[in-house]
Amino acid sequence: MMAGQSTCGRLAGKAAIITGGASGIGLASAEVFAREGASVLVVDQMLEAGEEALARVAAVGGEAEFLGMDVSAEDAPAEMVERCIERFGRLDVLLSNAGVHGSGDTPAQRWDHALDVNLRAGYLSALAAMPQMRDAGGGSIIFTASVAGAVFGFASPHYDASKAGLVGLTRHLASAWGEHNIRVNAVCPGFIETPFIGGGWTERRLAKLRRRIALGRLGGPEEIAGVALFLACDESSYVTGAALVADGGWSIHYTPD
Ligand code: NAI
Repeated sequence: MMAGQSTCGRLAGKAAIITGGASGIGLASAEVFAREGASVLVVDQMLEAGEEALARVAAVGGEAEFLGMDVSAEDAPAEMVERCIERFGRLDVLLSNAGVHGSGDTPAQRWDHALDVNLRAGYLSALAAMPQMRDAGGGSIIFTASVAGAVFGFASPHYDASKAGLVGLTRHLASAWGEHNIRVNAVCPGFIETPFIGGGWTERRLAKLRRRIALGRLGGPEEIAGVALFLACDESSYVTGAALVADGGWSIHYTPD
């Protein structure tokens, strides 16, 4: 353990990389992980928000660093792992969470954007983290997928395909890396109140959505961070290859109208 690393909490002495950590679910996870004793490398392409996130994580009391980058850039996976090892001396948890809807002028551009950020970057980050985790005796990799793609699709074809791909990738890597004590899981959020779901929802539309959710409300980012914490820490030591749906019961709820 390096100087400054916490000795108490469910992630005491561990180091985590959280991509998309400047906002929403990633930021909430960074705060929760830090509160539970982890050193956290926050990775995000939004530089100002990343610095603000860093201040929030540091306020919780944890060791933290911010790395500004586009996770889909060619060198990004190796760079984030190197920085984590340099700064904290270890890497125990990768929460690959950065995600986009997929933008561009053509279907091909939107497809490439969504698949590059949501799926390819997740895969390459896991690949970059794997040798370090293997040599250290294990680790936990968590992908933020979505209930879209894990249960059934309702977003765009490229978004749904990227998230379904993450669930397939989760199962593959969990099977392949289990012998190294590397657990690989996905969390599949439903509707979570972050900038990601965008503004512009009328109260009528929101009310309709709430009726379709068994718990009758949208989720908060901290409620997904709690699932990520469970998957990151030893309480889930026998969980691998899982896609944990956290959608307030949206996907199982029957509404007659
Ligand atoms: P958010 O918009 O609050 O956070 C996403 C973060 O990812 C932002 O900070 C953004 O800058 C970062 N990011 C995006 N592309 C990046 C790139 N190429 N390189 C580096 N950073 C990048 O959104 P939220 O809701 O926290 O989303 C986190 C994850 O949760 C995403 O993967 C999203 O698909 C997933 N998700 C969100 C749901 C929701 O209802 N909010 C539902 C299901 C899944």
